[in-house]
Amino acid sequence: TWTIGNIAEEQIERVREQIGDHRAICALSGGVDSAVAGAIVARAIGDRLTCVYVDHGLMRKNESVAIEKAFRESTGAELKIVDAEKEFLDALAGVTDPEEKRKIIGREFIRCFERAEVEILGDSDEKVAFLVQGTLYPDVVESGGGSGTSNIKSHHNVGGLPEDLEFDLVEPLRELFKDEVRAVGSQLGLPDEIVQRQPFPGPGLGIRIIGEVTKERLDILREADAIAREEMTRAGLDRDIWQMPVVLLADVRSVGVQGDGRTYGHPVVLRPVTSEDAMTADWARLPYEVMERISTRITNEVSEINRVTVDITSKPPGTIEWE
Ligand code: XMP
Repeated sequence: TWTIGNIAEEQIERVREQIGDHRAICALSGGVDSAVAGAIVARAIGDRLTCVYVDHGLMRKNESVAIEKAFRESTGAELKIVDAEKEFLDALAGVTDPEEKRKIIGREFIRCFERAEVEILGDSDEKVAFLVQGTLYPDVVESGGGSGTSNIKSHHNVGGLPEDLEFDLVEPLRELFKDEVRAVGSQLGLPDEIVQRQPFPGPGLGIRIIGEVTKERLDILREADAIAREEMTRAGLDRDIWQMPVVLLADVRSVGVQGDGRTYGHPVVLRPVTSEDAMTADWARLPYEVMERISTRITNEVSEINRVTVDITSKPPGTIEWE
């Protein structure tokens, strides 16, 4: 019979056969898919797997540390952290266009990951290494590659690596749907904070600051977002709400009155949505008491923010994110 337990065992066995006694590298994004893929491969080949987490400085409050700790403790896998906040922020300086932000973040990510590869594999004389990816069945179908072989060899020309090093892809989630991936993750001991994590975009808070991304703005948004998430969790809404981006309108100012006097601060937008697959979404009717608590706390605790607004647009016509 087809159970989550034997799906996990079967994938672990397959990965063990595919990789043999070679080494593998896995980029963790913080999301469910890469974490479960990494956990399967860690079970299969132990410390011949190195996971890499590129910390781009665009994550939510305390998020990177929590992900690192949870992944390490539950899998025992080798995990290399690349602290690249400064590089990402330098590269993003002055940029306001959403697609340009995405391109820069994607490019910097690959750079950081390749540098990590060089450090991990640079001294070895291996000619083959394996790259773990959390590709799911719906991704496979969407890209038309249904036939099963995943030997797309991507030749990396990274200075410092053996010249003819080739990467073979390892995709242990290729036959699975998202809910099965979550179940396998739990089976392998990953905690709910990873396995039940709501969707979060790869470019992180970089696309939730409307305007230029700076460290100061990120810190303001991180505080507001942390309050919103805390209150949503406290109200027991994490499973009902698909996700709730908090967006900082960094170039907008409005007059307010806080404490002793007049302020000229920024608004944030709460964007709570319900959805099945993110292709369409409806704005979520949050309970008034929850919105009230979030609004009061953000404007009391984050001095730069003097207005909290709620986005009541469905998708379409709005997208879930603002950029
Ligand atoms: P939109 O804003 O297009 O978002 O309605 C749909 C879903 O995708 C997420 N999203 C992204 N995820 N990189 C990602 O990995 C991105 O650039 C990106 N943009 C949006 C968004 O959070 C939502 O779940």
